[in-house]
Amino acid sequence: MGDKVTISLIKADVGSLAGHHVVHPKQIEVAKKKLQKAKEDGLIIDYYVFNAGDDLELLMTHRKGESSPEIHGLAWDTFKEVTEKVSKPLKLYAAGQDLLAEAFSGNVRGMGPGVAEMEIEERGSEPIVVFAADKTEPGAWNLILYKIFADPWNTAGLVLDPRMAEGFTFRVMDVQEGKYIDLTTPAESYELLALIGTVGRYVIERIWRNTDKLLAAVASVTRLSLIAGRYVGKDDPVCIVRCQHGLPAVGEVLAPFFTPHFVAGWMRGSHNGPLMPVGLKDSRCSFFDGPPRVVGLGFQVADGKLVGPADLFEDVAFDHARRTALQMAELIRRNGPISPAILGMEELEYTGIVKTLEKLKDRFFKA
Ligand code: 13P
Ligand code: 13P
Ligand code: MG
Ligand code: MG
Repeated sequence: MGDKVTISLIKADVGSLAGHHVVHPKQIEVAKKKLQKAKEDGLIIDYYVFNAGDDLELLMTHRKGESSPEIHGLAWDTFKEVTEKVSKPLKLYAAGQDLLAEAFSGNVRGMGPGVAEMEIEERGSEPIVVFAADKTEPGAWNLILYKIFADPWNTAGLVLDPRMAEGFTFRVMDVQEGKYIDLTTPAESYELLALIGTVGRYVIERIWRNTDKLLAAVASVTRLSLIAGRYVGKDDPVCIVRCQHGLPAVGEVLAPFFTPHFVAGWMRGSHNGPLMPVGLKDSRCSFFDGPPRVVGLGFQVADGKLVGPADLFEDVAFDHARRTALQMAELIRRNGPISPAILGMEELEYTGIVKTLEKLKDRFFKA
């Protein structure tokens, strides 16, 4: 409570139009109605509902702090209501896909939905960028966040702005062990890279500025396959980044997306593919259920109100990145079901391929 404001981005895939293509407009409509009511009741200050492909994204501001049962309950109830009122009657594909728990128990973490939330002291001007991706996993942000907060070739401010001169601290989660480690850059840059190169296991969860511990970024870390013990869809992560005034500028925050990189996900969550930055109108996956896509929305937070969005990738400058991503897509698809197009066995072990391998197990012989 108090003057602090909490920005919560909570998302789930609760069924979609045309396979895993896109959220249905009626799902957005029902979600908006529910959040509008919560705004009128004073539970939240403001909201913005949007989609990343087939994932429904609820961006909310409020004064309840992180992990608030009321806010998480509102998100859970919204996803449930959208499932019951729209996904099921319209027989949308994979209705309720990410709602892995039977009933809500106080916090959506571990129940399927992805969460990125930060409680902050609002600055004189508070520009933020929220990212939401479809057809990939939380480790997709590793390269992006490293470039934004630790790479002077990407972020000129690391060299030019003394407020960033002491660097940033990264909290990394080992999603297999459920443990965290804090590493400081630039001093521990190489140690950080030694971990976050393994994107399926080590995932950046939040980032602070070293000079004053100012919270700069948070990302979702949910891995659905680890919760469910089977493949249920990709996690399709979200991330919130604060910008300017001694933090990376909006343009530095967007810069890593200009040169697309390969991420895990795409068709059946089992392939490597380029992460393609798109505007909201292109936030829908098609070719081979992809390529994996990311939207970036800019807001000014003003007394908790969300002024915006600016649809940041809906810009001709990113046409070039989209063309590059499509060339990368074309090249890696030449490999079909052969690695590195297809993911390694430690990722595929959550898919149906284990049944095939099990069937063949006894047919191996020594020559
Ligand atoms: P099904 O068509 O069997 O649901 O699986 C394919 C898919 O899209 C994986 O989620
Ligand atoms: P989502 O994780 O976006 O539902 O996609 C699942 C899938 O299997 C696509 O081929
Ligand atoms: Mg889906
Ligand atoms: Mg999705």
